Amino acid sequence: MPDQQVTEQAMQHTAKIPPHIAIIMDGNGRWAQKRGKKRVFGHKAGMERAREMAETCGELGVKYLTLFAFSSENWKRPQEEVSFLMDLFATSLKNESKKLHKNNVKLTVIGDKLGFDKRLQKAIDNAEQLTRDNDGLNLQIAANYGGRWDIAQAASKLAQQGVTEITEDLLGQQLITADGPEADLLIRTGGEQRISNFLLWQAAYSELYFSDLLWPDFDAQALKQAIDDFNRRQRRFGQTGEQVS
Ligand code: IPE
Ligand code: IPE
Ligand code: MG
Repeated sequence: MPDQQVTEQAMQHTAKIPPHIAIIMDGNGRWAQKRGKKRVFGHKAGMERAREMAETCGELGVKYLTLFAFSSENWKRPQEEVSFLMDLFATSLKNESKKLHKNNVKLTVIGDKLGFDKRLQKAIDNAEQLTRDNDGLNLQIAANYGGRWDIAQAASKLAQQGVTEITEDLLGQQLITADGPEADLLIRTGGEQRISNFLLWQAAYSELYFSDLLWPDFDAQALKQAIDDFNRRQRRFGQTGEQVS
């Protein structure tokens, strides 16, 4: 079924669209290897899928979409793969930002940007500047991101400000995602059931959804299934079932 049609159907009968969907886009390497190709081929396909996912989420009225693109730990991969990913990131930012802007998407990169080379930092700045006033989908790309890094940098900012009475609110306000909501639905593709240092703080009460599909195969139909599953959950936030129903 074409993605557009799937999206329309999802809109018609999906009761509630999670305001913030976060996705650990895992399985690119295996997807390529299954086809007898190099891992990087999977990253290219994964990037295409990410672009489609942003479009689908925009159409569905998702407010925030956070995509885990490169973790603090992914630097440990073979140098050739890391360079490919950095080039792909820079090229995609350049090629896609105009279209994102046209679609009213606000793009931000969450992560330690200082870890990137100057050229990539510039490409990130340009894309963020271009789209900063848009009020459609907030697309957060987590790159050189780690949940532990995020919490540590927030604590460090408070220390620099001389704050000694650290509260959850104060710390939360210094996280890289401080301007946005916590994740409602956290999806991981690729069959693994772990967080891999993604949004540790912001996923405290996320509904978790694990898919065996490899990321380049995760289409609009698969997203719809995840959203339907989300709609069958009862979010209790520590209360009893009776209190929240
Ligand atoms: C996720 O796919 C993309 C990145 C981590 C950059 P992987 O590259 O981890 O794919 P698998 O898990 O090896 O199949
Ligand atoms: C998590 O995937 C990071 C991204 C999807 C960007 P990994 O493939 O790096 O996770 P692990 O190493 O299997 O936990
Ligand atoms: Mg992986």
